[in-house]
Amino acid sequence: MDLSRRELLTASALALVSPKAAWSAAHADSRPIAADGAASAGTQPIVLCWNENPYGPSPAARAILSSTIPNACRYPDEEIEKLIAVLAQKENFPVDHIVVGTGSGELLCALGFLHGKGGGEIIAAEPTYAELTNYAKHAGAELKFVPVDKQLNHDLPAMRAAVSPRTRAVYICNPNNPTGTAISAAAIRSFVGSLPDAVTTIVDEAYLDFADTDGVQTVTDLVGAGKRVVVLRTFSKIHGMAGVRCGYAIARPDVAAQLAAVRMSTANIFAMRAARASLGDEAFLTDTRRRIIASRKRITDELQRLGRTYARSQTNFVFFDTGAPLAQFDHFMKTRNILVGRLFPPYNNWCRITIGTEPETAAFLQGLQAYTAKS
Ligand SMILES: Cc1ncc(COP(=O)(O)O)c(C=O)c1O
Repeated sequence: MDLSRRELLTASALALVSPKAAWSAAHADSRPIAADGAASAGTQPIVLCWNENPYGPSPAARAILSSTIPNACRYPDEEIEKLIAVLAQKENFPVDHIVVGTGSGELLCALGFLHGKGGGEIIAAEPTYAELTNYAKHAGAELKFVPVDKQLNHDLPAMRAAVSPRTRAVYICNPNNPTGTAISAAAIRSFVGSLPDAVTTIVDEAYLDFADTDGVQTVTDLVGAGKRVVVLRTFSKIHGMAGVRCGYAIARPDVAAQLAAVRMSTANIFAMRAARASLGDEAFLTDTRRRIIASRKRITDELQRLGRTYARSQTNFVFFDTGAPLAQFDHFMKTRNILVGRLFPPYNNWCRITIGTEPETAAFLQGLQAYTAKS
């Protein structure tokens, strides 16, 4: 079963059940299976399939989420303005450059709609995060996918070559999901400089906080330079608030206004306050980054030791070759009560593993060793 979260949401909406219930139904065979092959009920699985950050929310965000309950009867307008002001200051842009969304996913969908409607051509890597392109399809977009290169990086020369007079937008997920790889800001700057002015470059920096390679950094300076560039950020990853739903875009005021106009939802008071609190919780953010990067090294060191091929990750997940169709590894890990990432064609032997807590990483590595020993 190969479903994106949005597809699950749609499926669950149609079935009038929660996304989690829809997910469980879609993974009915994913209950832990004991050594004798019998499924054992009641144990919570180790969830390493959604690129969530299990350390969050931060202590400051948790406190404000609880204390906000009495204010849930109020509309959130003032709180939205407060968060926008804080984000504008953090990013060093006027407030008219910031658009807040119910997760950056909402903004990706809105951008897919804006640029894809009426047959607009959108270029994206393959594989990449599919929320924008999936939504753009519904708006009638023409999608052009450009395979990643041998290192599983965005192939910018090939993406540039794919640009046609019909191209309205190029989506660059940096670092990329599901490969985890990242390209330099310099490469993106020169790519944007080569594009016709009317083409929008959408740079999704959801995982940038986990990058530790020189030159891999934000390209918000392109927005400041007046380019038609939209930079996207989320509170779902390093801030560990995927369930709270908050993301934002940084763009030129004209592009920001177009984007804001096609959003479908209003941000909620919990997300606005928790986002503001989390931005101020430096100790949490620093600690999370340190832990994720340390566990990432632990995982890649072990992959190396076991002779597995993997992509160079700059994220809170690692994409690696299991050596056989993913379903085999997926099933084996389920027998150990561990849920791993889904299939990302054409990488049919590869697995995307989210970096969980330290004990979860240890459990995953034990599973990986056991799988390798038996194969
Ligand atoms: C690259 C990328 N962008 C955006 C998102 C969406 O994040 P949000 O939770 O803010 O909607 C995700 C979620 O996994 C992602 O992987």
